[in-house]
This record gives sequence, structure tokens and C-alpha cells, in this order.
Amino acid sequence: MNSIYTTTITREARKRGIHIEVIDPLTPIFVLRHKGKSIRCYNALTDRVGSVTFQMTQNKRLANGFLKSCGFPVPAQKLFTDLVTAGRFLKRYRRIVVKPCSQWGGRGVSVGVKTVAELAGAVRFAKQFEEEVILEQYVEGVDYRLIFVDFKYVAAIRRQAARVEGNGRDSIRKLVQVKNRRERRVDPSHIIPIDSETDRNLRVLGVSWDQVPAAGQVVRVRLTTNYHTGGDVEVVTRTVSRKLVALARRAVKALGVPVIGIDFLVNEETGRPWLIELSPDLAISPPEGDEVARHFMDFLFPETKR
Ligand SMILES: Nc1ncnc2c1ncn2[C@@H]1O[C@H](COP(=O)(O)OP(=O)(O)O)[C@@H](O)[C@H]1O
Ligand SMILES: [Mg+2]
Repeated sequence: MNSIYTTTITREARKRGIHIEVIDPLTPIFVLRHKGKSIRCYNALTDRVGSVTFQMTQNKRLANGFLKSCGFPVPAQKLFTDLVTAGRFLKRYRRIVVKPCSQWGGRGVSVGVKTVAELAGAVRFAKQFEEEVILEQYVEGVDYRLIFVDFKYVAAIRRQAARVEGNGRDSIRKLVQVKNRRERRVDPSHIIPIDSETDRNLRVLGVSWDQVPAAGQVVRVRLTTNYHTGGDVEVVTRTVSRKLVALARRAVKALGVPVIGIDFLVNEETGRPWLIELSPDLAISPPEGDEVARHFMDFLFPETKR
């Protein structure tokens, strides 16, 4: 509960004289109270969103199906049932992503799976987190999250996969270790995983752990762009394409969730967007967090608006 993901909200609440009651110290569940009004929150999810709507938006299979039926651009997807059927899906799309249905932060996600052997490993990896696993068409693009509060567009971030900068002396392994050691003191949830998925990603990227990058050379080491797999986040609220904002706004309206993150991968050359994921329970956190938290409090407690 006492992480930057909740303190971004609670700090803004305190400034406005809103009382915070922690429900569980290990999960981000708390109640905001002000003058006889109380609202229960889980990150930015509140009791103002119905359970059915939450399930439908949070579950990657249900979200993809709903968005597709509304005509939004989503990658092809299939629920994993067995390796033979999964193999056919892989053959059709050549490169796929395997992920658990309702996790977050890149947990259990394998990107750019190309062979049946990799596919079996990726399914095993995803199943460590959850029984329900989906296969998805791999799409190329830059990762954007557009954040809406009270159905209004308030912020956008661009996320880049974990990378290290060479110094002409140290290996990739050493550079990752040093970066992680530094980051552990700042935010322990922002570490580049040293695991079999990073091993596989390096092979896909044609990089080895022992390679020594030249001074100033930037080397990507993960395929997922999540902050929680060591990715970098940049605020692009004012510069993001207006077309993308308009598309996201239409999605928010169709979904009926007032506070939500809409995640896209946007092809840089063609500008073609793919709607990848919805976050109705997004953690409001830096670097865009303070701005979002202000809108969040204005939405929940308009009487405290300054
Ligand atoms: N269909 C896809 N094509 C290419 N990359 C993808 C695709 N789906 C996910 N990814 C990559 O994997 C990351 C994690 O997947 P995502 O579906 O967002 O799950 P999570 O809830 O764990 O963030 C994304 O941020 C993106 O970098
Ligand atoms: Mg994601």
C-alpha cells in the first residue's frame, strides 16, 4: 500500500483534506472519505465502475473481443487450448505474443515467439502466472498509454523497452547489473529481469550477455515495454497524435469506464494503431502521476477542486 503507486493519490487527497483509510497494507485498497462521502479504491479503480464492466475490460481476452466487435483495431487473438491448435495460429501469423489473460506489468508475457519449441516454453511461462493463456498476433509499434479521467483525456506516456548504454568496457550483463543496482534504491519494481525471457529476448534481438557495447551505444535488452520489466517512460501528453486521442476517446465511450488507461502499439512508419490492452485499475504513478491524481480527485471530490 505504501508505494509510489498509491502515495501519488494519497498525497493529493491529503492536500485537499480528504481522509485515507487503508484497508489492506499489502494491496492498494483504500477508502477516501470527505464530509460524509466515501469512495473505495483499488489503485485508480473505484466502486463507481461495475464489476461486469471491470471484468470485461481487465481480462485481455474479453477486452479484445469486445473492442473487435465495436470495430476497434485489435491484433488477432486466440485462447490457448492445446499445442496443435496453437501451432496453427503461429503458422498463420508467423510471429506471436503469448500472455496470461489478466496479469499486469509484463508478467508471463513472451513477445515475438516464432517456433513451436518457443511456443511451448512461452505457454509454460505464462501458465506460471495464470491458467488462462492467450496467443496474439505480434504487431510492430511504439507503445503509448493514453489516460482518461472522467471520460476526459488527461495524459499520455510513451514507453520504451529496457535498454543499457555501453561504456566500451563492460558487458551487457554487467551494464544490466549496475543499472539494476542503482534502480533498486530508487524503485525496486523497475528492474530489468535477469531471467529466461530476457535470455530469449536477447537471442531474438541478436545480442549476447557477454557482448561489450561501444561507449555511448544504446542496446535494447527486452521486448516488452513495461515499466515493470525495466522500461523507460516519457510523458507525451501534448505531443501525441490527435488522431490517437480521438480513437482512444471513442474506445473510452464504448467501454463506459470513466478512469482508464488505453494502451496502443503504433506503427511508426504508417501511423497505424493497434489497441493492445485496457487498464481500468491503472496505478497512478510518476512521471505523469501528479497531473492524473489532480484530475482523479477533481472527479471523485469535485467540491475540493482548487
Ligand atoms: N500483440 C503484441 N505485439 C507486440 N508486442 C506486444 C503485443 N502484446 C503485448 N506486447 C508487448 O508486451 C508488453 C506486455 O503486454 P501487455 O498485453 O501490455 O500485458 P501487461 O498487462 O503485462 O502489461 C506490451 O507492453 C508490449 O510491449
Ligand atoms: Mg501492458
